[in-house]
Amino acid sequence: MTDRDDVPFDLASMRKQYRAEGLSETELAATPVEQFARWFQQAATDGGLFEPNAMIVSTADAEGRPSARTVLLKHFDEQGFVFYTNYDSRKARDLAENPYVSLLFPWHPMARQVIVTGVARRTGRDETAAYFRTRPHGSQLGAWASAQSSVISTRADIDGAYAELAARYPEGEQVPVPPNWGGFRVAPQSVEFWQGRENRLHDRLRYVEQADGSWRVERLSP
Ligand SMILES: Cc1cc2nc3c(=O)[nH]c(=O)nc-3n(C[C@H](O)[C@H](O)[C@H](O)COP(=O)(O)O)c2cc1C
Repeated sequence: MTDRDDVPFDLASMRKQYRAEGLSETELAATPVEQFARWFQQAATDGGLFEPNAMIVSTADAEGRPSARTVLLKHFDEQGFVFYTNYDSRKARDLAENPYVSLLFPWHPMARQVIVTGVARRTGRDETAAYFRTRPHGSQLGAWASAQSSVISTRADIDGAYAELAARYPEGEQVPVPPNWGGFRVAPQSVEFWQGRENRLHDRLRYVEQADGSWRVERLSP
């Protein structure tokens, strides 16, 4: 029980002991993307995660005001980490003013997190179109129906817009790619791999991009 009746959980005493096996410099892959691929494979197979590709995307506007939201990672390779969204959304407007971005993968059941910082650029239209065509029909219509991040007066507005689109583009009919929808590719500048360990003495290994494009690894105090 807590000594304050209005607080349902005693948050101050909620803590877990993290695992003993750590992450050492010698076992790291040559590039952060290769290391990410190893950890992602583990997260997706035996991480006990509902959506291992869910990440927190943090942006800031031109005045430096931050905002964060969850987005799904849809592709990654040595060029960067790709997600798709509406180009009129708050995040996209932030990125147009200030392309610096952070991606955080909160893999709590594994006592791991990965934090990427980098620069976001729009994906090309061909790449966007290729991905859009893999989305379920309903999601394709949803991308048209939603003026993401704008204020609407009722739920009926969006349901009505969807119904009109569903009548215009029945199942099986090709839905065009919305002009204001597409991808961002985040080219990493630093990638931190965080492994929770006993007694809060966690391992933090961070790859930092060098001027010649190579990577330096540094260890951070937990
Ligand atoms: C698990 C999860 C996955 C999501 N995936 C995406 C996504 O891939 N793209 C997207 O635009 N929004 C996604 N969203 C919605 C965003 O969190 C957010 O509400 C939306 O993009 C508008 O953000 P903004 O107004 O800050 O731009 C997801 C939300 C959750 C909870």
